[in-house]
Amino acid sequence: HGTLGEVWDDEMSSSMLGSRLRKVVQNYQAMNKYGVEFSGPGGVASRPKLSGPELLCQLKDKVEVTTLTPDLQPFSSLPWAAQLPPKPVTSDLGPYKSCAVVSSAGSLRYSGLGKEIDSHDAVLRFNAAPTAGYEKDVGSKTSIRLINSQVMASDDHRFLSSSLYSSGVLVAWDPAPFSANLTQWYNRTDYPIFVQYQRYRRLHPLQPFYILHPRFEWQLWQRIQENMAEPIQKNPPSSGLLGTVLMMSLCEVVHVYEFLPSRRKTELCHYYQRFYDAACTLGAYHPLLYEKNLVKRMNQGPDRDIYTYGRVTLPGFNRINC
Ligand code: C5P
Repeated sequence: HGTLGEVWDDEMSSSMLGSRLRKVVQNYQAMNKYGVEFSGPGGVASRPKLSGPELLCQLKDKVEVTTLTPDLQPFSSLPWAAQLPPKPVTSDLGPYKSCAVVSSAGSLRYSGLGKEIDSHDAVLRFNAAPTAGYEKDVGSKTSIRLINSQVMASDDHRFLSSSLYSSGVLVAWDPAPFSANLTQWYNRTDYPIFVQYQRYRRLHPLQPFYILHPRFEWQLWQRIQENMAEPIQKNPPSSGLLGTVLMMSLCEVVHVYEFLPSRRKTELCHYYQRFYDAACTLGAYHPLLYEKNLVKRMNQGPDRDIYTYGRVTLPGFNRINC
């Protein structure tokens, strides 16, 4: 019929999940690996639900998108600090007019979105997501690749040698303890991000390579929790949301593809792997369900764009007046 089907409901909660996934999510909600100290959704019931524009202003005002620079402690007293870019990513890149954020969701398969994605001035991809062999659906341009420290450290991703990572700008992140300063985090990273960073820089000294400041992750986490009616997982936001907010600080308009699932919604985890798990789309470790509620509320495009193209439209921070 070409009628508008179901799109993401911005009030998704763990009670709407299947019983297996609901238990996994509830376990993570009870766990507190990073020592998050934040008064849950306390009073959220009495707090008015913010509108999309209000949420956008909150993110703009209260989330500092920044990367590590050599002047910061403890790096300033370490010999390899010179490998870090002298300025944060937001001083070096952009502003771009239009940007595409390409989630790695299985629903990108058979989307035919490749040309549209490549028509943007900058394209952000995640972790091990390839373009070779999938150009028709995901395009071939990669301007920035956001990678987590697990991918950097794992043997099967061949981070140091695979050509997947050697084009475009790299941005890496690792979950830090909630209240840790950079020195405490440096001594207690989740995965060996700094060891791998130094190795990679020696092999590819000319490729720009940034590391997200962990403050960014947790400030963003707090904005998610503040705006949800139930306690969310006390783990950092997924790469998908980190990358989306990074691009909102570099671009005038950001299109995010298949973060909010289209009519192609599938349990296929990634478009590039034959592995099925609803947790990839709904979250387990990451508060992904709530990230998607937030993005749905901030979306400035029609629901039909989500349904047909899996496309969300967000304004860049420089384009909003708060
Ligand atoms: O799995 P990975 O983290 O590499 O995927 C990149 C991002 O794409 C995720 O962090 C998540 O935000 C998004 N994603 C999704 N649904 C999927 C797979 C990935 O929303 N099925």
